[in-house]
Amino acid sequence: MTPTFAAIPRNRLPHLLRTMPKAELHIHIEGSLEPELIFALAARNGLKLPYANVEALRAAYSFTDLQSFLDIYYAGASVLLTEADFFDMGMAYFRHAAADNIVHAELFFDPQTHTERGVPIGTVIDGLARAVATAQRDLGVSGLLILCFLRHLSEAAAFATLEAALPHRSHFIGVGLDSSERGHPPEKFARVFARCRALGLRCVAHAGEEGPPGYIWSALDDLQVERIDHGVRCVEDPALVARLAAERMPLTVCPLSNLKLRVVPTLTDHDLAALLAAGLCVTVNSDDPAYFGGYVNQNFLAVFEALPQLTVRDAHTLARNSFEASFASAADKRRWGAALDLVFAAG
Ligand code: ADE
Ligand code: ZN
Repeated sequence: MTPTFAAIPRNRLPHLLRTMPKAELHIHIEGSLEPELIFALAARNGLKLPYANVEALRAAYSFTDLQSFLDIYYAGASVLLTEADFFDMGMAYFRHAAADNIVHAELFFDPQTHTERGVPIGTVIDGLARAVATAQRDLGVSGLLILCFLRHLSEAAAFATLEAALPHRSHFIGVGLDSSERGHPPEKFARVFARCRALGLRCVAHAGEEGPPGYIWSALDDLQVERIDHGVRCVEDPALVARLAAERMPLTVCPLSNLKLRVVPTLTDHDLAALLAAGLCVTVNSDDPAYFGGYVNQNFLAVFEALPQLTVRDAHTLARNSFEASFASAADKRRWGAALDLVFAAG
C-alpha cells in the first residue's frame, strides 16, 4: 500500500523522521567514538591523552576543512588497542542506531589507522564483527562491514592491507576509499579496486566531498563503484548529475558533516533538495557523528528544518533510497520497505 503523502501535514515531519525505519550507509565507526569513550578506553589501556578532560577534548572539535578534522579523528582513534575496544566502540554506535530506528547499518572501518600503530588487523575485524553479531541478536539491528583504504597512503599499502584482510574475508562485504581527498584521486587505486571486484567485494568510494567532480567521474569509471560517498560537488557538472540520475547511482550524503567541514557555509545552502529533485538516489547519513554534532536522526531533523522545500514524500524517498542503495538482501529490503510504508500510512 502506497501512503497518501499529501494528507500528512508538514508538522508531522519531526515524528516521521525519527520513527521511520532507515538504513545508514555512511558511518566511519572510528568517527562514532564519543569523547567519554575515548577517555574510558585511554584509562583502560593506560594511555595519557593530550587533553585534561572530556570537555577540553570536545572544545577542540572546531574544524576548518577535512584535513583539520582528520588530524583530530586519527588522534582519537589511537586509544583503540584491543578486540574489546573495537567491540565496545561498535556496540556504542549500534545502541545509537537502534534509538534512531536504524534497521541496517553499513560501517566503514580504517584498518591502516590501527595496523600502523601495531594493532593486528584481526583484532580490529574480530571486535567489529562481534559487535555486528551482537547488535543483530540483542538490538535487532542488521550490520555489514566495509574496509576502507586510506587514500593519503600508497597503492602498495592498500594492496598490503587487502592481503592482510583476506583471511577475514567473511566478515566484510566490501571496500571503500576515504581520508584526505584533494591530491589523491580515485584512479590512484584503480588496480586495487580491480582486484577487489575480482574477489567479489562490493566497491564504494568517497568522491566529490572536497574534491572536484572529476573525482566522481574517476570513481565511476576507474574504480567502478556501486555508490559514491558524499558526491555533493556533482552539482557543478550537469552532465555528471544526468549520469548519476540515469544510473541511479546512490550518493551517501552527510549534511552535518558538510556543514562542520565547511563544504557548505550553512545548511540552507545544502543541495540535498536539488539532488532529490534531479532524481538522484540520495541518502542521509552521519559520517562521523561524535565529531559533527549528530547521529542520523539529527542529520534528518537539521536538514529538513533548514530546507523547507523538503516534503513528507521526500522523507519517505530518502528512507526508501537507503534500503535500495544498501548491500542487504532483497528479502530484507522488501521487509523494511513495508515497515516504512506502515509508518507513513499511520501519518
Ligand atoms: N574519514 C572519516 N570521515 C571522513 C570524511 N568525511 N571524508 C573522508 N575521510 C573520512
Ligand atoms: Zn565519510
